[in-house]
Amino acid sequence: MENVLFVASESTPFIKTGGLADVIGSLPQALKQYEQLEVRVILPLYDEIPDEWKEQMEYVTTFDVPFGWRNQEATVYTLKHNQVIYYFLANDYYFTRKGIYGYYDDGERFVYFSHAVLEFLVHGDFKPDILHAHDWQAAMAVVLANIRKPVDQMKTVFTIHNIKYQGVMPIDIFEDFFNLDREHIGGLEWNGMLNCLKGALFHADKITTVSPSYAEEIKYPYYSEGLHPMLIEREQDLVGIINGIDTKEYNPLTDPYLAVNYRSARSKKIENRLALGEELGFEMDLDQPLYVIITRLVEQKGLHLVQHIFEEFLQEDVQFITLGTGEQEFEHYFSDIASRYPNKVAALLTFDEGLARKLYASADFFLMPSKFEPCGLAQLIALQYKTVPIVRETGGLKDTVLSYNELTGEGNGFSFTNYNAHDLLNTLNYTLKIYHDSDQWQQLIRNVNKSQFSWKESALEYGRLYEQLVPTPIYG
Ligand code: GLC
Repeated sequence: MENVLFVASESTPFIKTGGLADVIGSLPQALKQYEQLEVRVILPLYDEIPDEWKEQMEYVTTFDVPFGWRNQEATVYTLKHNQVIYYFLANDYYFTRKGIYGYYDDGERFVYFSHAVLEFLVHGDFKPDILHAHDWQAAMAVVLANIRKPVDQMKTVFTIHNIKYQGVMPIDIFEDFFNLDREHIGGLEWNGMLNCLKGALFHADKITTVSPSYAEEIKYPYYSEGLHPMLIEREQDLVGIINGIDTKEYNPLTDPYLAVNYRSARSKKIENRLALGEELGFEMDLDQPLYVIITRLVEQKGLHLVQHIFEEFLQEDVQFITLGTGEQEFEHYFSDIASRYPNKVAALLTFDEGLARKLYASADFFLMPSKFEPCGLAQLIALQYKTVPIVRETGGLKDTVLSYNELTGEGNGFSFTNYNAHDLLNTLNYTLKIYHDSDQWQQLIRNVNKSQFSWKESALEYGRLYEQLVPTPIYG
């Protein structure tokens, strides 16, 4: 039996701000199919975690966490969900706050979390063979594990879900936050700052990211956010493994949010569209295709491209609905355009899981022209709901969406290469051409219906990676 401990800052169904939570909430379950692996997860116990979960938690242990000049307590609770054991690390001072990120002391909070995880390895009774940490908030756990070696022979894996967020702090907090010799500053330092993500890239035994294309892209300055030299240095230990999605959770045949459940019938999609139109007070024109954007409204998602060409494309017979909140610039833009084109555009400036599901189910096209996209889960959900994705060829979008080719009849969506608004417009115009050509459209939809992105294959790849790190075979 090999023990693996996931260290992360969010996980469904307990607490979520983005795709990281979906991965932490579904990959350990997918790894369960291999009996030789015992995968558990440790998360901070945020105030925001709903009471229904807190009520199920059982007390495990309390211990001191020496941390710079401080000594902060930690208490660990546990619960079992879908066969997976989760640990929740409680500290009122750091985690009993509203929301989960965005505080001036986020650096201190997550460095504390990593210190506390290390102490838990010393005091608790779960001794991992592999510590697998995700994103900058958990990166210091890798650094500390490699330096302090709390469990004999334990190896480390670090996964980059988004290299844009690195956990950068002034170098002079080193003594304040760590009880380490100064010789360890080198591993953490980057461009004169202390950088959590870089520390993990320096110390981890293996590094993964969430798609093969992103694993290549981050070796170049355009995508690396300054860290390409580190990734080139660790190239031998870097691998891209595409995320899956929980296909039980995202299933139009059973999804309780939908007006009408379906496997693939387009007529049922239309029924969902009519029900949604009624709910929103937005008149759906069934002669026109419906495009949706479902995303956090941030630059990463390619919204500047959309802004450039949106009004021009709206001259066509199309309808658009956007769902999501985010930067004011985009919120204003979409609400303004919706008020100027009330019959064509609805802008839902909220985030609501139920509405999102109804949109996936109702739409013909799902637009995601990201500037960069480590993996992207929304395009996979769109495919599950038989909605045609339109993406830019970057990261996981490139690895999961193949642009439709009229000559060969292959492809499950549409894509364009360069981050260029006119390429996006040309692609959108092309989607209309295929939509109105019934033979081509039928063929495209057949391909969409066949697309599958469950965790099965990817979980196997993680297993193979773990196997390289431990002495006994995992897959027999
Ligand atoms: C981050 C990335 C996204 C990826 C997700 C899960 O949110 O931006 O592309 O799908 O992590 O790995």
